[in-house]
Amino acid sequence: MSVKKRKILVAGNWKMNNNNKETEHFLQQIKKGVENAKVEVLLCVPFTSLNVALNLAKESNIKIGAQNCHFKDSGAYTGEISPLMLKEIGVEYVILGHSERREYFNETDETVNLKLNASLKHGLKAIVCVGETLKQREDKVTKEIISMQLKKGLKNIAKEHILNIIIAYEPIWAIGTGKTASKEEAQEVCEHIRDVLGKIFSQEEAEEILILYGGSVKASNCKEIFMQKDIDGGLIGGASLNVSEFEEIVSIANAI
Ligand code: PGA
Repeated sequence: MSVKKRKILVAGNWKMNNNNKETEHFLQQIKKGVENAKVEVLLCVPFTSLNVALNLAKESNIKIGAQNCHFKDSGAYTGEISPLMLKEIGVEYVILGHSERREYFNETDETVNLKLNASLKHGLKAIVCVGETLKQREDKVTKEIISMQLKKGLKNIAKEHILNIIIAYEPIWAIGTGKTASKEEAQEVCEHIRDVLGKIFSQEEAEEILILYGGSVKASNCKEIFMQKDIDGGLIGGASLNVSEFEEIVSIANAI
């Protein structure tokens, strides 16, 4: 019996990696390895890999997600992909507000909120990323920053969609750096996130919402992180590009 209250989600964020051939190879290999997983397994792949990944993930327990979307259904938005388009091809999840999008593509809490409402309206599950910079952590304003990102990002959510929201706490200083927040640091912020969710929504809803930790999660550190009371899995970048490492994370999560 798992000691966890909520189902664990192990989500890979491939970022701008893996072409169609590599996607095919990865899915073929991983399918068998996670066949008996009781935890939820998700791979968020580049737009160009979605179709290949969706086809190969059919009749497996692997879910496929995108890493961003626009907030309109269609229109003159050159280069963008709408949540409706994602839904139409069978995508179930979308990552929104990743710190790389906030930093390099001018994503704001306001655009995250528009994208979130649009994604939920079309029946997608959305992983909303929040997190502080190293400077903000050193200035001891982490909780204020996270509260603001949540309050602005999670505005006007229809009640029936609340449980389709997943929060990923990703301290920016821990992403791709090899530095992980300690399990205590991660738990402290995730507990704060759950508190804030309780104020935005209700206490009961906050208890059901999944909160992931992301930032240099790998097989060697995932257990202690996933064991934390308010952490329900991970959003995994670098380590999700390696089949055996990702498989090992899934199997460790399975045994919790
Ligand atoms: P990382 O990335 O695991 O490579 O640190 C996590 C993320 O950016 O989602």
